[in-house]
Amino acid sequence: MMPTDANNLSQMPSSFARADFPSDFVWGCSTSSFQIEGGATVDGRTPSIWDHFCQTPGKIRDASNAEIACDHYHRWPEDLDLAKQIGMNAYRFSIAWTRIFPDVSGVPNQAGLDFYSRLVDGMLARGLDPWATLYHWDLPQYLQEIGGWENRATIDAYLVYVDTVTRHLGDRIQNWITHNEPWCTAMHGNWDGMHAPGQKNFKAALLVAHHVMLSHGLAVPIIRKNVAHAKVGIALSLHPLRPASSSETDLAAMQRHDGLRNRWFLDPLFGRGYPIDILAHCANDLPTIRPSDMAAIATPIDFLGVNYYFPETIASAPDCPPLHTRLEEVAGRERTGFGWEVAPDGMRELLQRIANDYPAIPIYLTENGASYEDVMDADGSVQDCARRDYFIRHLASLQRAREAGVDVRGYFAWSLIDNFEWAEGYMRRFGLVYVDFQTQQRTMKQSGHWFRTFLRGAA
Ligand code: FCB
Repeated sequence: MMPTDANNLSQMPSSFARADFPSDFVWGCSTSSFQIEGGATVDGRTPSIWDHFCQTPGKIRDASNAEIACDHYHRWPEDLDLAKQIGMNAYRFSIAWTRIFPDVSGVPNQAGLDFYSRLVDGMLARGLDPWATLYHWDLPQYLQEIGGWENRATIDAYLVYVDTVTRHLGDRIQNWITHNEPWCTAMHGNWDGMHAPGQKNFKAALLVAHHVMLSHGLAVPIIRKNVAHAKVGIALSLHPLRPASSSETDLAAMQRHDGLRNRWFLDPLFGRGYPIDILAHCANDLPTIRPSDMAAIATPIDFLGVNYYFPETIASAPDCPPLHTRLEEVAGRERTGFGWEVAPDGMRELLQRIANDYPAIPIYLTENGASYEDVMDADGSVQDCARRDYFIRHLASLQRAREAGVDVRGYFAWSLIDNFEWAEGYMRRFGLVYVDFQTQQRTMKQSGHWFRTFLRGAA
């Protein structure tokens, strides 16, 4: 396909089609419960840490909350219709823990289970293969009251939740993602405090990271027990890195940043334990690791989910403990409306690095997308050329990774519909479909139309 009004024609692939990908390639879009569902108190749901965080003044940029969000709880048939119209064959969603276990009693809430049962049936009826994420950041607030992920008891509660959900839905869902982006759960939630629960304590963040990874590893056999032919994985947020300069100090800083950002999660998953350079560097902040923990984290998985958004440029910063690194904003780079660097080739680079550095494993690109300040034109259309070109260039990059031998088997666009973007509230639109948050009207953007044409093989 030849783009006509691309922003960056020089970077656009000259010829590019669905047929260039394998016929069994997974094409989906990703969403998450808190960001789209709304229905905050419907059918027994109780608050998660994000409901609580939204009520804390100053935490959400537009002072909004997700009590209604996209009202997907009620509008899901229309939303799944949209995914089908685009031509997706898969749909990644997450399950809200507090719909399943609304309180400490440990009694599952049938209405919550029924909701996801209907939702999954709706996917199957539309030819969308369900990909369920078990934890996409919305921890029950009642668990936070006892220390949240810092408390090992939360791991036990998570395993009960995983067991319950997979027993109820495992007859229809084959693909399970234990956690979405543990780095964000741990670090945004507990180190920089940008996300719920909003703590600023590095030692706590490392403890949370350890418990989240441990809960992942312990969940894998439970899912396998409950789901025939289960495919189990985890979705990590990973970044290709560049040094701010060629100085030795910046190169060493980049290594340290890589150690916490990427290797801290990849190495233990693949049985290597935590990276020794970071163990040494963060010696004062390390969690207690019990003898069997690392083996549990390394329980073999079926696939690795990679969420790719942007590369990072790292400089040495002696005044910034604990890693003594800082992110550098390089001027003149193409950026999304959110300010995230647009670097399509970074996706290929990242995927090749994973393939080179770690044992062979099927990879699914479980998130990739861009926010721009979309406007609806007078004729009711949303001409988001920049997002369309973003997708084209990233898919071309994915294709280059495949051609280089990386075993990538699927791609999920973030996101189907505009939604509640965490600490940014409704200020960042990522959807292939525009949502008017006053009326809840959905409008397919030009990027959604492009995807549809591409997936039909007509692009
Ligand atoms: C990822 C999150 C997802 C969404 C995108 C834009 O880090 O997993 O929920 O917010 O960023």
